[in-house]
Amino acid sequence: MKIAMLGSGFIARFYATSLHAQRRIDRVTMVYSRNKANAQRFASDYGFEDFTDDMAEAINHPSVDVVLISLPNHLHGEAVAACAKAKKHVLCTKPLGRTGAEAKRMLNQVEEAGIFAGYLEDLCYTPKFLKSMESIKAGALGRILWTKSRETHPGPHSDWFWDKEKSGGGAMIDLACHCIEIGRNYIGKHVKPIEVSCWAATQVHPIDAEDHAIGLIKYANGAISQFEVSWCFRGGMDLRDEVMGTEGTIWINNFLRTGFETFTTGGGGGYVAEKAEVDKGWLFPVGDEAHELGYPNMFTDMFSALEEKREPLETFYDGYVVNAILDAAYKSAKTKLWEPVVLEDWRGDEGVTYANEKASYDADHFLIKEEKLPNGDMKLILKHKVSGELHQRVSHG
Ligand SMILES: NC(=O)c1ccc[n+]([C@@H]2O[C@H](COP(=O)([O-])OP(=O)(O)OC[C@H]3O[C@@H](n4cnc5c(N)ncnc54)[C@H](O)[C@@H]3O)[C@@H](O)[C@H]2O)c1
Repeated sequence: MKIAMLGSGFIARFYATSLHAQRRIDRVTMVYSRNKANAQRFASDYGFEDFTDDMAEAINHPSVDVVLISLPNHLHGEAVAACAKAKKHVLCTKPLGRTGAEAKRMLNQVEEAGIFAGYLEDLCYTPKFLKSMESIKAGALGRILWTKSRETHPGPHSDWFWDKEKSGGGAMIDLACHCIEIGRNYIGKHVKPIEVSCWAATQVHPIDAEDHAIGLIKYANGAISQFEVSWCFRGGMDLRDEVMGTEGTIWINNFLRTGFETFTTGGGGGYVAEKAEVDKGWLFPVGDEAHELGYPNMFTDMFSALEEKREPLETFYDGYVVNAILDAAYKSAKTKLWEPVVLEDWRGDEGVTYANEKASYDADHFLIKEEKLPNGDMKLILKHKVSGELHQRVSHG
C-alpha cells in the first residue's frame, strides 16, 4: 500500500518509523504538513519524494491508496470528510472525534462512501494486550467482572492538546479513550455500556480542561470498567491494565519499569522513552518502544484487513462508542451523577442481563467459599438452597 501521511508531528513519526521498520512492504510515499519545510524534512527523513502543504493534494494524489490521519483532534473530521469525498481508504488516530456526534458524522461519511476505515487504537494491539485477550477468549478468567486501565504521564507535548476547543477536553479525551477501549475489549464489545460516573479536576495546570480524571463505566452484563488518567503524574509514562474474572486475574504493565533498568551519570544524553523526564540516574528504557506500544501489530491488522476485505479489530464504530462513553463521562463530571451512555446507533447485544451462576455444593446447598486454614483445617461456607441459611463446616486436617 502507498500511504499519505497527514501531519508530520509526534505520532506521524511513530507511525512512519513503525511502517518503515524491518522490511515492511507498506510505505509512506506522501506527506502533508501545513508547514512545507516540515513536510520536506519528514519526506527526506523517511526517504520518499512527495510532500505538500495542501491536504487535498495529498489525499487526492493518484498514487495514494490509504490516508493516515495524524493531525490534532479538531482536524480529524475535516480530513475524514475529504477522504470520503475522494473515496480513499482512511486510518485515523485516536480519539476519533471530540464528541460522539462528531465521531458519528465521520462513521456515516466513511460508510456512505464505502471506503475502508480503521481506528488506530494502538494500545489494543500491544503484545501483552493481545496475549491477554487470547486467554480471556479461551475462558481462563471466567466471567469478567472488573477491568482497570491507567494511563498517566506529565502532560502532552504540543500546545493544541491543552486547548479544550481543539482537543475536545483534557487528559480524559486524550488518554481515557485508550483505557475505555481496553476495558470494552476485555468485557466484550458486544456488551452495551450503560452509564458512567466520573470525577475530573484541574489539579495542577493553568488550563480550562481537566488534567486528572477517574471514571467508572457500568456494562449491561453487570461488569464494571474503571479508568484512571492524568497529565500530573511525575516519573514517565505509566500504562497498566488489570482484569478480574470469576476464575482468574491479569495484571499488565506495558511500559514503565518492565524489566530494563540502567544507570548513567549522564554521559549518553538524548531520548530514553516516551515522556521519560530524566536522562541520568536510574533510567527505565523500553526495548522496542513502537512494538511495546502496539504500532506494528496494529498496522499489520489494518493492512491485512483491507486486503482481506474484512473489518480490522478496531473500527470507526469502536471510535464512535468510545466517544459516546467519553461524552457521558464529561457530563457526569459536571452533574456528579451517573449519566447514561447515549448510543443512537448500537450494533451489539440488546437485553443482556447479569448472569450470576451459583456454584452448587450438593443437592441442598450452594458453595460460597472453601479455604484451608493455617492449622490445616478445611472450612466450607454453605448456603441452604431453600431456607437461605448460611453455615460453615469444618473438617480437621
Ligand atoms: N498513542 C497514540 O495513538 C497517540 C499518541 C500521540 C498522539 N496521538 C494522536 O495523534 C494526533 C496528533 O498528535 P501529535 O502528538 O502527533 O501532535 P503534534 O502536535 O506532535 O503533531 C501534530 C501535527 O499536526 C500539525 N498541525 C497542528 N495544527 C495544525 C493545523 N491547524 N492545521 C494543519 N496542521 C496542523 C502539526 O504541525 C503537526 O504536524 C492527535 O489526534 C493525538 O491524539 C495518538
